[in-house]
Amino acid sequence: MRKGALGILMSYLHFRKKCLPKGGYGIHSPFVFDLYTTTIENDSRESVFESIEVYRKELLGCDIGIIRKSIAESLNGGFRGELVKLSRIARTASVPPHLGRLLYRIVNRFKPNVMLELGTSVGISSMYIAKANPQGVLYTIEGDEAVFGIAQKRFDTMNITNIKPICGIFETELPSIAREVPGFDFVFIDGDHNGTKLLQYFNVILPKLNENSVVVVDDIRWSNDMEDAWRELKANRQVSVSIDLFRCGVLFFRKGIAKQNFMLRYGPF
Ligand SMILES: C[S@@+](CC[C@H](N)C(=O)[O-])C[C@H]1O[C@@H](n2cnc3c(N)ncnc32)[C@H](O)[C@@H]1O
Repeated sequence: MRKGALGILMSYLHFRKKCLPKGGYGIHSPFVFDLYTTTIENDSRESVFESIEVYRKELLGCDIGIIRKSIAESLNGGFRGELVKLSRIARTASVPPHLGRLLYRIVNRFKPNVMLELGTSVGISSMYIAKANPQGVLYTIEGDEAVFGIAQKRFDTMNITNIKPICGIFETELPSIAREVPGFDFVFIDGDHNGTKLLQYFNVILPKLNENSVVVVDDIRWSNDMEDAWRELKANRQVSVSIDLFRCGVLFFRKGIAKQNFMLRYGPF
């Protein structure tokens, strides 16, 4: 169950007590220090963000409602047949601009060949990821045909050609993509906000990761079970470095570096 405002506040106070200060002070890992100061904290604005944010503004100002066409009876965030305004989806489901920019910078830094996203929605995060690395291919899965159609159309009009949008549920589409690709170099998990499901998806993804893969998990403090799942992910033997940015978590699988978790501040947190 989603945490209430008080639960989030308590988690945030705990995070602030434990996290390292801004500026990279106290980060003793050279890899994490460099990543934090140059890629995470350095929140530069790029001109490629403009067209994505224009799209977001259009959606936010749009009075049109769509009928959800979830392939499953209900997916996290909506039910088949439910009427929902596009503005609400853009406001509540899409990654906020600061997280979009972070995804862009991470992908731009590591230049992953095969990228995967669970949860396309109207396509905002997909655009940040795909534009960061036009040489790579982004597979993105969405189980609601209505939002999927909107995203797909916009990818086409924006001429973003390195996205392979897949309409279906993660439970069936993820194993099928995993069989098809040599491996996943970058993964963004932003779908089911359910700890048990998150671990299930991670277990499908894990055998396809390599030493240089990066996995970003959104909404790690959405609920107690998401927080528990994040704890399990960090503890996984194959995870070397984990970075907790309060809203999202980033996992690395590099060999030869000490296993460590970092709680670091980014954006409004
Ligand atoms: C938070 S939204 C994704 C937002 C998107 N990443 C962005 O920032 O623009 C999550 C999406 O995942 C989809 N979803 C949730 N559970 C799913 C499942 N099991 N299979 C397929 N899609 C699912 C929902 O329909 C919803 O559109």
